[in-house]
Amino acid sequence: MKTKRKSEVGFSNLLVTGGCGFIGSNFIRNLLNDTTFSGRIINLDKLTYAGNPENLEGIAADFGPRYVFQKVDICDAAKLEKVFGEHDIDAVCHFAAESHVDRSIKDPGSFIQTNIVGTFNLLEIAKARGDKFKLFHHVSTDEVYGSLGAEGLFREDTPYRPNSPYSASKAASDHLVRAYYKTFGLPATISNCSNNYGPYQFPEKLIPLVILNALEGKPLPVYGDGKNVRDWLYVEDHCDAIWTIMTSGVIGETYNVGGNAEMENILIVQLICDILDEIKPATDGKPRRQLITFVSDRPGHDRRYAIDFTKLKAELGWSPRESFKSGLRQTVRWYLNQKKWVENIKTGAYQSWMKEQYG
Ligand code: NAD
Ligand code: TYD
Repeated sequence: MKTKRKSEVGFSNLLVTGGCGFIGSNFIRNLLNDTTFSGRIINLDKLTYAGNPENLEGIAADFGPRYVFQKVDICDAAKLEKVFGEHDIDAVCHFAAESHVDRSIKDPGSFIQTNIVGTFNLLEIAKARGDKFKLFHHVSTDEVYGSLGAEGLFREDTPYRPNSPYSASKAASDHLVRAYYKTFGLPATISNCSNNYGPYQFPEKLIPLVILNALEGKPLPVYGDGKNVRDWLYVEDHCDAIWTIMTSGVIGETYNVGGNAEMENILIVQLICDILDEIKPATDGKPRRQLITFVSDRPGHDRRYAIDFTKLKAELGWSPRESFKSGLRQTVRWYLNQKKWVENIKTGAYQSWMKEQYG
C-alpha cells in the first residue's frame, strides 16, 4: 500500500483546520506566499479562545479568492460535509485541536470532543470523497510518546504512552488517522513534532507567557524544579516540514519533526529575562530574573521530550534552519513589536471583535 507521492500532484482546494491558531496561521501565511502552491486555502476554524483572526490580518485582502474563511466546529459533521462539498476539498491539513496540557487537566471534555470526535468526523467525510481526495495530513505532537529519562530520543517506532488528557486525545486521533489509511486506504500522512515557538503563539504557553509577564513585572511561574526538558522547534521550520511531508512524503507514513534544541525550562525563562533586560530594560532597573517564581508542579508533568528526526532528514531532506538562540531573540522582538495584537488579547477585545464579525 506504500505509495510514493508524485511531485507533480497538486492540491487545488486545501482545507486547513484550526488556521486561526498559532501554527495554522503561520502555515497559511507561508503557503499563500509560496510560489510552489497555486491552489486555494479554505481555513475552517471554530474560533475558540485560541483562534484569533488577527493572526491572519491582511490575508483575505492580499489573496482574494485564493483564501476563504469558514467559522465551523469540526464536531459539527453536517456543516463540515457542506464545506467539503461546496469547496470541492481535495486535501486536508488538520491543525484544529484543543492544545494546552494545563487546560486538559482542568477540563478534559472538550479535548475528547475536538481532538478525537472532530478528527473522526473529518476522516469520515474525507473518505466519502473517494478518488477525488488526495491527502489528509494530520498534525500531531511528540507528547504521544510519553516521557523520557535523561537519555534517549523519540523515534517514529517508539511506543505510544501518553500521560495527559491532551496527549491521550492526540494519540487517539493519530490512531484513527492510521486506521483510516490501513482499513480504507485513505491517503494520509502524520507528523509528530516537538514544542513550537514563534510569532502568534497564544500567551498561555511557556515562552509567550514569560515574555509578556516579564514585560509587566509579573511573576514568572516555573513548574516544579524547572528542570523539565522540551525540544524547541521554530514555527516556520515546522510549517516548512509539514509542506515537505505533504508534497513529498510517503502515504501512510509518520514523520517526527524536531528543532535540535533541547532545553530545561528554567534556562529558557532565564534567557528570556536576559534578552529583555538587554533590549528593553525594566523601568526600575532591576534584572527580570528576580521575577522567577517556582510554583507547584503540573500533575503528571512529563520530564523530558527529545526527538529523533533522522527519517525526515534522510528521506525528505528537511532540517530545521533556525537556531534556538536566534529564534528566541526574534520571538521576543516580535512580541515587543505587536502592541495591538497583545493588547487585544489582554483586554479580550479580540473575542468581542470576533463575535461581531462572525457571530
Ligand atoms: P492553537 O491552540 O494555537 O490553535 C488551535 C486552533 O484550532 C484555534 O484556532 C482554534 O480556534 C481551533 N479549534 C479548536 N477547536 C476547534 C474545533 N472544534 N473546530 C474547529 N476549530 C477548532 O494550537 P497550535 O499550537 O497552533 O497547534 C496546532 C496543532 O499542532 C494542534 O493539533 C496541536 O496538537 C499540534 N501541536 C502543537 C504544538 C505546539 O507546540 N504548539 C506542538 C506539537 C503539536
Ligand atoms: P507548555 O508551553 O504548556 O507546553 P507543553 O506542556 O505542551 O510542553 O509548557 C512547556 C514547559 O514549561 C512544560 O514543561 C511546562 C512548563 N511551564 C512552566 O514551567 N510554567 C508555565 O507557566 C507554563 C505554561 C509551562
